[in-house]
Amino acid sequence: MKILQYLGFFFLVSLLACCKSEALDTPYVLNKPKHFPPPSIPADNPLTAAKIRLGRMLFYEKRISEDQKIACANCHKQEFAFGSDQALDKKVHGDLTARNSSVLFNMVFTKNFFWDGRTTTLEATCLDALKGEQRFDIAQVKSKLMVESQYRDAFNSAFGASEPTEDMVVKALASFIRTMVSGTSRVDKGTAEGNPNKYLTPLEIEGRTIFETEEGDCFHCHGDPIGQPMMTDNLFHNNGLDPVLNVSLFKDPGLGSVTGVTGPDAGKFKTGPLRNLSYSKPFMHDGRLANLDAVLAHYNTGLSTDPNRNKFFDVNMKKANQGGINLLPDRINRLKAYLLAFDDPSFISDTSFSSPFK
Ligand code: HEC
Ligand code: HEC
Repeated sequence: MKILQYLGFFFLVSLLACCKSEALDTPYVLNKPKHFPPPSIPADNPLTAAKIRLGRMLFYEKRISEDQKIACANCHKQEFAFGSDQALDKKVHGDLTARNSSVLFNMVFTKNFFWDGRTTTLEATCLDALKGEQRFDIAQVKSKLMVESQYRDAFNSAFGASEPTEDMVVKALASFIRTMVSGTSRVDKGTAEGNPNKYLTPLEIEGRTIFETEEGDCFHCHGDPIGQPMMTDNLFHNNGLDPVLNVSLFKDPGLGSVTGVTGPDAGKFKTGPLRNLSYSKPFMHDGRLANLDAVLAHYNTGLSTDPNRNKFFDVNMKKANQGGINLLPDRINRLKAYLLAFDDPSFISDTSFSSPFK
């Protein structure tokens, strides 16, 4: 009997040891469409199933904010492609954000973050979000979350640690966000099979031609399925939203707030990605354009023709002097149809990104 108990205990210990180390080390293979570029994952934060699981919990956890009311998911909602349906959102203590909540997908393929590029790693970006939008303090994790076995277990399997640190929180959040890959739109399905047009209607294919030629002129910054399949160059441009007479007049200097408010980068913002536009209105860094029709109207006829006011626009806003690309409604409709073929409904409904608490 004694021997049986002893054997049982031994068995239990080895079982625990086995599963703990397995959870710690189990590498996670990113589900990456083959036409996408190589992912950027730092050597000191490799993807593991346990970190992703913890990151997902923290992403949906309101108690990590100073007032206990704001989770990342308050502003980054899956139904809106992990953006928001509001121009600006309420952060901790009810203050409004300065800019429109970014959509979160394909973050693993860029090193430029935020509308103004103020961070260059996803870890630094998550830390900025934690401090800025939530006034995060690790003491709160210790006092509110570590009293629960679900969090003790999650930190333990992700980091082998019983004492959580800010670095762990950040690494877990970044790991979860890296798994949010959107690459199964109809355009993507075709591109992965060698022909972006394969699943498009004739109208959408005409829209693609408009997008990728001087007629629409979108491809310079927003890419194309074969050459730049992220559908953004992830760089910073002035796309003509603010026709100011003088650099000091930009209400929001964008990249200029990082490199110099009256320098050559003032008024430049990160190019938006063109997937999931059906879900992610309103648009632009301040959410000023209510829907996709308003965006298309901006590029079509909404640009300032005044040479004193369009001098800060990007050189690729080539038709600014004519007010925009000046297409007739049936051409705009084709362009719009093509843009909507980048919707990725399976990303929006993927339950591996939804709240783990439901
Ligand atoms: C109150 C709303 C709000 C909350 C809460 C919030 N965010 Fe954000 N998020 C924003 C806004 C607004 C931006 C754009 C800010 C800017 O560019 O200056 C943003 C941008 C980002 C970006 C950059 C995306 C890109 O394309 O470069 C990441 C990543 C991000 N947030 C992650 C998080 C994480 C992780 C959390 C929780 C720890 C979080 N956010 C909490 C509103 C919020
Ligand atoms: C010179 C580079 C450039 C060109 C050309 C360009 N864009 Fe943009 N686009 C941007 C930038 C930069 C932003 C973000 C601007 C901001 O928020 O201030 C943007 C934002 C957008 C957005 C909103 C994304 C979001 O999430 O808010 C859409 C949609 C869009 N562009 C579509 C188009 C279409 C369609 C064309 C062609 C008719 C086009 N763009 C041409 C640079 C460009």
